[in-house]
Amino acid sequence: MAEDAILGYLEKNDHISDSGQFAAERRIDHNEIVNVIKSLHGFKYVDAQDIKRETWVLTDEGNAYTATGSPEVQLFLAIPPEGIPKEELQKKLDPSVFKIGCAQAAKNKWVEMGKQLVTRKIQHVDDKVKDLLLQIQEGQAINQDDIKTLKARKLIVPQTWKGYSVKKGPNYAPKRKKVATDLTRENLQRGDWKEIEFKEYNFTAKGLPTEGGHLHPLLKVRQQLKDIFRQMGFEEMPTNNYVESSFWNFDALFQPQQHPARDSHDTFFLQAPSTTKELPEDYVQRVKQIHESGGYQSRGYGYDWKREEADKNLLRTHTTAVSSRMLYLLAQKPFAPKKYYSIDRVFRNEAVDRTHLAEFHQIEGLVCDRGLTLGDLLGVLHEFFARLGMSKLRFKPAYNPYTEPSMEIFSYHEGFGKWVEVGNSGMFRPEMLLPMGLPEDVRVIAWGLSLERPTMILYGIDNIRDLFGHKVDLGLIKRNPICRLGL
Ligand code: PHE
Repeated sequence: MAEDAILGYLEKNDHISDSGQFAAERRIDHNEIVNVIKSLHGFKYVDAQDIKRETWVLTDEGNAYTATGSPEVQLFLAIPPEGIPKEELQKKLDPSVFKIGCAQAAKNKWVEMGKQLVTRKIQHVDDKVKDLLLQIQEGQAINQDDIKTLKARKLIVPQTWKGYSVKKGPNYAPKRKKVATDLTRENLQRGDWKEIEFKEYNFTAKGLPTEGGHLHPLLKVRQQLKDIFRQMGFEEMPTNNYVESSFWNFDALFQPQQHPARDSHDTFFLQAPSTTKELPEDYVQRVKQIHESGGYQSRGYGYDWKREEADKNLLRTHTTAVSSRMLYLLAQKPFAPKKYYSIDRVFRNEAVDRTHLAEFHQIEGLVCDRGLTLGDLLGVLHEFFARLGMSKLRFKPAYNPYTEPSMEIFSYHEGFGKWVEVGNSGMFRPEMLLPMGLPEDVRVIAWGLSLERPTMILYGIDNIRDLFGHKVDLGLIKRNPICRLGL
């Protein structure tokens, strides 16, 4: 072992003058010797002094000639005793071997470059260059003139060799004392902690790379979307309430109380607290009325609207619940146009499969201003989706209780070679806006989509359970690329 060799040697000898020589004599790898010397030096078992030497190493070209022979010898051997036309000789050899070989062989006076033929001038040659290269490769010393020629031919380059000379240090001992790295329970019980020598702390050692602090792909895509909304002048809505009342989630959105989405098969209702404590009473009355008998030129649904249904707490099924709260608040002040967005979690009582989870993130945008038209909605959608990198859009008439008209949004996916559904949109109905108290000519255009869909497409994930939830692929979370939308 390298350590025993060094400490043992110093027991009987004054010093090791050259670690390289020391390693070579004992057939130990010099790197290993160097590492041991550094460590022994650190603990003051030895004193080590740097030594440097200029040595020579072969270049790639030099290395190649140790196998193939030098170009001049290759050329020489390619010439038959009767000579050969230059063109033919050229065909037999590698272009660089031919070129260098001609020059060197002529210089050595090995060949005659006749007008007709190239001929040998002597019968036998030795490959001195190859032999020298092999000697250098083995670390043997060669004379300065040869070094000069090989260097000029770029077959060798200088390299600084680093090693040590070593002598005993203040803590020298023929064997290294074992130092304890940990104080154990046994040390305390036996009381031997008083005698043990402990390893000193190394405060400059680099720690292990931290495993935490990785951004989930959903967070990266969300950040890009937030930037897009902000660049388009949208303000973020406060979405910090997963629990919502049925009133804001459904009733305010003119969603009738018998609507299938309001069934516990589709929505998670809360057991405790099962109902909301407060709702704006006069607004509740106007909502009740629009559902029961209509108003503002609407006929309503004509059913018996129940306050108990509206009071039920649930996990919000869409962030449109937040939009309804925000529009109601807006209606309480003198009107000012607004552009709002949100990106947050929503919940649906859904059978989990490779594309569905019981919770996901919804991206929602709305613009509220006087006199907006469907054309404005189309324009905003084109602008928004273009910034996501989706510039080919198509729309399909759809139905939402709270929008009229409503449109599903499709985008052409170049990679899949087909149209994929990317969102839902519409203009909020007067039955939703007018009971809130918004001026009659105010229109609201809005759209929503999931954050998971574009993220899965961008990151090539085909099972939502790999992206989110308890089966998530942790490797993916640690090593996912940055996200740049629309580039
Ligand atoms: N709330 C709709 C959904 O859950 C999305 C949407 C938002 C549709 C706004 C129209 C207008 O799919």
